[in-house]
Amino acid sequence: MSTIDKFQDHITKGYTFKGDSVLLGTAMLDGEAIEQLHISAPLKTFNRHGLIAGATGTGKTKTLQNLAEGLSDKGVPVLLMDIKGDLSGLSQEGKPHPKIDERHAKIGVPWVAKSYPVELLTISEEKGVRMRATVSEFGPVLFGKILELNDTQSGVVSLVFKYCDDHQLPLLDLKDFRLALRYLSNEGKKEIEKEYGRISSASVGAIMRKIIEIEEQGADLFFGERSFDVNDLLRQQGGNGYINILRLVDIQEKPKMFSTFMLCLLAEVYETFPERGDKEAPKLVIFIDEAHLIFKEASKTLMRQIETIVKLIRSKGVGLFFITQSPADVPSEVLGQLGMKIQHALRAFTAKDRKAIKLAAENYPLSDYYETSKELTSLGIGEALITVLNEKGIPTPLARTLLKAPYSRMDIITSAEFKRALKESLLVERYNDEIDRESAYEKLTKKLEKVAKDQDIEVKKSRTGSRSRKKDPSFFETASKNTMVRQLGRTLVRELSRGLLGVLGVSASTRRR
Ligand SMILES: Nc1ncnc2c1ncn2[C@@H]1O[C@H](COP(=O)(O)OP(=O)(O)OP(=O)(O)O)[C@@H](O)[C@H]1O
Ligand SMILES: [Mg+2]
Repeated sequence: MSTIDKFQDHITKGYTFKGDSVLLGTAMLDGEAIEQLHISAPLKTFNRHGLIAGATGTGKTKTLQNLAEGLSDKGVPVLLMDIKGDLSGLSQEGKPHPKIDERHAKIGVPWVAKSYPVELLTISEEKGVRMRATVSEFGPVLFGKILELNDTQSGVVSLVFKYCDDHQLPLLDLKDFRLALRYLSNEGKKEIEKEYGRISSASVGAIMRKIIEIEEQGADLFFGERSFDVNDLLRQQGGNGYINILRLVDIQEKPKMFSTFMLCLLAEVYETFPERGDKEAPKLVIFIDEAHLIFKEASKTLMRQIETIVKLIRSKGVGLFFITQSPADVPSEVLGQLGMKIQHALRAFTAKDRKAIKLAAENYPLSDYYETSKELTSLGIGEALITVLNEKGIPTPLARTLLKAPYSRMDIITSAEFKRALKESLLVERYNDEIDRESAYEKLTKKLEKVAKDQDIEVKKSRTGSRSRKKDPSFFETASKNTMVRQLGRTLVRELSRGLLGVLGVSASTRRR
């Protein structure tokens, strides 16, 4: 048997799957593509996570686009973190090009222009469907983590949550929380000391400063109503899974906000989706482009939580793909969890680069056909070294692959196209009306006004000796019943779902301190 026959046999055996799979491209040997020697990834193992790495301009984002298209075509919805804003093109048909035809002739699959059902989401100043969450929904633990508080300060946060819970004061946005904290450390100090314990003013000051810090990073746009239901990410249209694109163009300078948001989103997904084990297809696949940003400024605690969630979210049928320049950008505990690896070219300019290449090469299965570190520096644009997990969960043989070109547009959309997409969106209407219903802020403001008014009356009374006045009903009783019921319902759900808190290593008792 000639080398090439042996190679064909080796790849065919490694990449033949019983169930459905997503086509990636065709295998290459000695730098040449072999037509019809297809490399694909089983749909079943997309919840085993993945990595797309490579130097700048080598094709990582196009690979992400290819995977998103392939999954959507199989009815699987995806969520893309679009940091550079170059993914919106998925909503439009791609433009034919002789180079693309040439590429596809080598792969042995015709190229067809195609557009996909896309929903454009935002958490910042960017336009799109607003993704929000209320402070109450975060719960004291996660909220304390976002603020990176110490134990004493976290205790104060738990206390504020507990007080507001007990008194039906919904904490919807940051201004609710700030006022509640202010109230409990000033006017309400006696009330809370009697019922719950002391609050140190040093802690209050520290918490306030942290809140201002995250507000400056744009967190106030994110906290509030209406809170996003992650089930809305699971829609389909005409057999295609929706491609949800979260536009994060203006978040690059706010890595802390980004990593926190990611953790919260994953926690919400984890909490909301039922346990399902390994099925024929994943329920949702999340791609995080420029993933180094989430790890860059994440605190140790946040990092540990991300690691934990990555491990556990798989059982909910959710796959996570990290896209970054070097595998070294991803913490090794996370890296070890990533089943599919797509490595684009790496550049060897410096001694440090060469070391990184050696390390990257060690991440891949040994092969009789490739010298991995050499291949890594000789890969062309839109080519990659690939290993995936087969249906038994075993890594497939390493394959240098000529990747298919995306069927949708490899460029951004125009502002007219953007407007049209938002107009056609079914979610805009639901999520983009700013709601500022009566919450802790309004209620406490009323209470404070009343305190001031009462004091005024007292003064007047002592002056004029007027007749005794009927006691006003408590301000809590005047609360809007609807808000209360809804918020209580939510809080109750939180209280019951110990799962996540267990995941994050927090016991119920510390939570309810
Ligand atoms: N699979 C592919 N098919 C056709 N062209 C491709 C493919 N992959 C990459 N290219 C070409 O290479 C260019 C760069 O690709 P891409 O934007 O995906 O790189 P990247 O690795 O994400 O870069 P960066 O690190 O700067 O984000 C594309 O604009 C496209 O012209
Ligand atoms: Mg890119």
